[in-house]
Amino acid sequence: MALPLISPSILSADFARLGEEVRAIDEAGADWIHIDVMDGHYVPNLTIGPAVVEALRPHSSKLFDVHLMVSPVDRWLEPFAEAGADVITVHPEAGPHIHRTLQAIKTLGKKAGVSLNPGTPAKMLDYLIEEVDLVLVMSVNPGFGGQSFIAGQLKKIAAVRKMIDGSGRDIRLEVDGGITPDTARQCVEAGADVLVAGSATFNGGPPAYASNIAALKGAGT
Ligand code: DX5
Ligand code: ZN
Repeated sequence: MALPLISPSILSADFARLGEEVRAIDEAGADWIHIDVMDGHYVPNLTIGPAVVEALRPHSSKLFDVHLMVSPVDRWLEPFAEAGADVITVHPEAGPHIHRTLQAIKTLGKKAGVSLNPGTPAKMLDYLIEEVDLVLVMSVNPGFGGQSFIAGQLKKIAAVRKMIDGSGRDIRLEVDGGITPDTARQCVEAGADVLVAGSATFNGGPPAYASNIAALKGAGT
């Protein structure tokens, strides 16, 4: 089985030293950098805006994996694209026209991702799969780091893997929430190829980052 890509969520980083933290995970082997954007409205937490993404951009040349948990989402696509996002992922519930939103992301020259909350069925993808570059399956309810993995989402990961393979398109299948070396292995077995990890990356501070990321990658072996 191929090794998964690891996309550490900087939500669990030390916000007082965010640039250094991004450099540290980059050097420790992070494949992508996952940036959780929350608006205190779509989800009950408030985090990072485009100015912070722009400030972080010079600290890593790795792909910026921007996860928008904001509603209405459309007016934020361009600011995050300009700030340096590479992939922009949105939730179907966060705007009136998800198909149009995905097209708008691609028009901005960015990769488009769609995220499925734990209560959102895989079927939501039926008429979106042709539009997306990434599907993000949430294995916790969005809003906070450090929550426990919802095992029932493994079935959804497997269902989405089938849909992606059936589409014949090059689409990443990412899982976000409660990832540990153990749940990472289960996600990879179910068909995931990118894993978001906040707590499991940043636990133990900078000296632990490389071994933490390696332990998560070991999932594929
Ligand atoms: C939750 C966020 C996640 C979160 C993951 O809404 O989308 O990216 O930071 O944190 P852990 O890995 O600690 O569950
Ligand atoms: Zn996220």
